[in-house]
Amino acid sequence: MSIFASMIGIFDSGSGGLSVLREIIKILPKEKYVFFADNAFCPYGEKTPEFIRKRGRAITDFLIKKGADIIVVACNTATAATISTLRKEYSLSFIGMEPAVKPAALSSETGVIGVLATAGTLKGSKYLTTKGLYEDNVKIVEHVGRGFVELVERGVLEGHEAEETVKASLQPLLDAGADRIVLGCTHYPFLAGVIQKIAGPDVKVIDPAPAVARHLENVMRMEDIVREDGGPSFPDIELVASGDPAPSRKILDMILNNHSNE
Ligand code: DGL
Repeated sequence: MSIFASMIGIFDSGSGGLSVLREIIKILPKEKYVFFADNAFCPYGEKTPEFIRKRGRAITDFLIKKGADIIVVACNTATAATISTLRKEYSLSFIGMEPAVKPAALSSETGVIGVLATAGTLKGSKYLTTKGLYEDNVKIVEHVGRGFVELVERGVLEGHEAEETVKASLQPLLDAGADRIVLGCTHYPFLAGVIQKIAGPDVKVIDPAPAVARHLENVMRMEDIVREDGGPSFPDIELVASGDPAPSRKILDMILNNHSNE
């Protein structure tokens, strides 16, 4: 048990990782956070793994200088491209993203699940291995969420444009009979309302962020770095961006506003 707040470093290609931070602060509200939005280089989805690894190292060095005790790679694409390298090269723990194929496969009634993710994630060996474990039991259909990341970066989370963009990538999965939609990119939960509206009430949209937050808490408890005393009940979050911080600031303010009303 620690009486001091730990510093949790979190990064993503942009604002997407804030969907993970949103879940983490619900269960670890007394820690300190530095969120790094690498939006000067967003999107990561079509970049090479080598490029993303270079960014992963540079951001990790920055977060360690800031005092990070643990780092959350709040980006599926960066997890696929960098996490095994980062774990080899640095001594602190890294928590990554995992597309929620397992809960989707185990709960599907139609036997068809849909996965929305970036091209980088869908090509990564981590995803292909997970998929291999379940594809004997369920049919797994995939689609890149084309234009989703750009919408979220522009703060367009609902309305006609968001609906048209989402529909183009989601409809093929619904047409294939999917009754579970796995959100395999951390930007996509900010479009969950639109996705649910198009998919209808019989389809369950699955965001892995709550499970990732619980995993982070377990690892921090094992490392004995969770603050347990009566410290502040509101998270201390520093936001840093490699580009314009305004879009991430807007989404973070919305999250903190909802957090304080809960
Ligand atoms: N939010 C990211 C992910 O989870 C990256 C999206 C992108 O930059 O293409 O995959």
